Order: sequence, then structure tokens, then C-alpha cells
Amino acid sequence: MSDKEVLLQVKNIKKYFNVGKNKILKAVDDVSFDIYRGETFGLVGESGCGKSTLGRTIIRLYGTTGGTVEFDGVNVHGNLNTAKKHELSRRMQMIFQDPYASLNPRMKVMDIIAEGIDAHRLAKSSQERARMVLELLEVVGLNEEHANRFPHEFSGGQRQRIGIARALAVDPDFIIADEPISALDVSIQAQVINLLKLLQEKRNLTYLFIAHDLSMVKHISDRVGVMYLGSMVELADSSELFGNPIHPYTQALISAIPLPDPDLEMSRSRTVLEGTIPSPINLVDNCHFCSRCPKAKDICRKQVPKMTELKPGHWVACHFIQSTK
Ligand SMILES: Nc1ncnc2c1ncn2[C@@H]1O[C@H](COP(=O)(O)OP(=O)(O)O)[C@@H](O)[C@H]1O
Ligand SMILES: [Mg+2]
Repeated sequence: MSDKEVLLQVKNIKKYFNVGKNKILKAVDDVSFDIYRGETFGLVGESGCGKSTLGRTIIRLYGTTGGTVEFDGVNVHGNLNTAKKHELSRRMQMIFQDPYASLNPRMKVMDIIAEGIDAHRLAKSSQERARMVLELLEVVGLNEEHANRFPHEFSGGQRQRIGIARALAVDPDFIIADEPISALDVSIQAQVINLLKLLQEKRNLTYLFIAHDLSMVKHISDRVGVMYLGSMVELADSSELFGNPIHPYTQALISAIPLPDPDLEMSRSRTVLEGTIPSPINLVDNCHFCSRCPKAKDICRKQVPKMTELKPGHWVACHFIQSTK
């Protein structure tokens, strides 16, 4: 769709960690995708596949081993002056999985939320600062009385609302939500998702929404990318990905989502993945999924499959697909 504006362009990003003598851990290995302004891009994959590392690299918490990230036309890992770095750190925000660990227990909610306001000098007076915080509390469904309390006085869902208010305080364009609902009770998860959706509409926000479970991204995402062991294996519009999954890994993930209808749930076929995710240390150049793939052949153990556009917007990295574009 040509009317879409690319806000974030991730190109061949690699992030390797040295984890001992001659040991390289390829947490993210040659990942590319675009995120359009105003959309929610869901990123899924099992724990340890590199989602958080990718998020942290995009937002400049980590440098890169290779590749580039462009945000609104700016190479975020390039040579930037202080003003530009400051601008990026305001416009790109992150919300974390564990709202408790990411909120300073010794700070009052007022000061937690105002951290970014202070760092970016967004308030002209202490009255304005307080007014901004109180407004934000209301926006995320909390109230004025909460401003003078400490994080431990809140439930998990409320803490996540505080984390969201803190991210919103600096009026960002782009938010990486790194498993923002994984630590919450199921009954609270939908509330936080609804809040994120509402805020997106009101503030024209763009999200990278990270989850380890496909069912969590299904309703919130416009497009979804599936990661396996440092690589992107499939990427498509959400409805296309769920309706027509091509990669054996995506198929297995989708078949693991429970169906609400018990009769259907009993009778449907499941692809159960054998084995566990292999160690990401000293990986060889092959299809990383080959050790668990029911379709694996020799070529899979010897060659890296390239991301191929099977039909417009639907990308798959598997040796057994033919483009029908
Ligand atoms: N700072 C680090 N140093 C070394 N290894 C790391 C570091 N951060 C993450 N890793 C490793 O990188 C891989 C990907 O981790 P992570 O990005 O946290 O995955 P996910 O968020 O998908 O669970 C894991 O094997 C993890 O142990
Ligand atoms: Mg993570």
C-alpha cells in the first residue's frame, strides 16, 4: 500500500554478544522490516529468540553489530549531535514487561511520571509539571490521589498504567511495548490492551508490540513478524498471517493457540514441536529451525533461507516456498 509512510526502517540488523572465549551469541541476526506510521507491528517468538534485544537496539539502548535502523529518516546509530540524540530519546519510548522492576520503588508516582518531562524540560514551572502529570494519570485511567503514592501501593495493572503514563509524558511518536501484558492477570490484560489501542487512536502512536505468544498480538496488531532464534521467519498482515501461515514454525505456533469452541478444540489437528529451542551460541549458517522442523531436508541444514515475498506483503524465510507474486 503506497499511501503508507514508513516511520521505522530496520535493515539487516545484527546484535551479537561475546559470551566467553570464542563464543558469540547471535541474539539478532540479519533482521529487516519496516513499521508504518500509525500501525501496530506485533513481534512474536519464544523466550530467548531476541525480541527484547531487537527492541533495545532499535531504541539505541544497544549499539549494533551490523545493519541500520532509520527512524523518520534519521540513522539512529549514526553520528548524531546531542540535540538529535535528545530528540530521538524523546520520540522513541519503551514500556517494559515487569512494571514493578522498571519503576523506582523510592520515587513517588508524580516524580516517576515527570522524569521525562524534567529530562526534556517540557514544563515551564512546577505547577505546569504537576498539571501535566495529573492529566496523564487521568489519561491512563488513574487519578490525582495516586500521584503521591509509591509503586508498591499499586496492583500490576495499575503499575503498567504508570509505566504507560511515563512513556506518554514526553509525547512520543513511537512506543516499543516489550511484553507489556505478559506479567499481568488475564482479566487485566484486555484492559491494558484497550488502553494502548485508545491512546494510539488519540495520539497517532506507532507501536512495536512484543509478545511471546501469538494470541496476545492477534487483536492488537496490523502486521505481525515471527522470530525464531535471532531471525525473522515470517511477516504478514495480521489476518493473512493467522489465516494463511506458511512457515512451519508459524503454523506450529498458531496450532498451539487454544480455540474457544470445545468441539473444534477437540477435533482439530495440532503441529506439536519436538525438542526445545537450541542454544544461540556459535550458531551455524543454516535454517535455525531445522532441528525442530517436520519438513527439514538437507538444504535446511546447510543454507540460510532468504526472506522471500510470497505475495505482496507476505514474507517467508523457508526453503520450501515458491513465490506466486
Ligand atoms: N546483555 C546480554 N549479554 C549476553 N547475552 C544476552 C544479553 N541480552 C540478551 N542475551 C541473550 O540473547 C538472547 C536473546 O535474548 P532476548 O533478546 O532477551 O530474548 P527475548 O526477549 O526474545 O526473550 C538470549 O539467548 C539471551 O540470553
Ligand atoms: Mg524479552
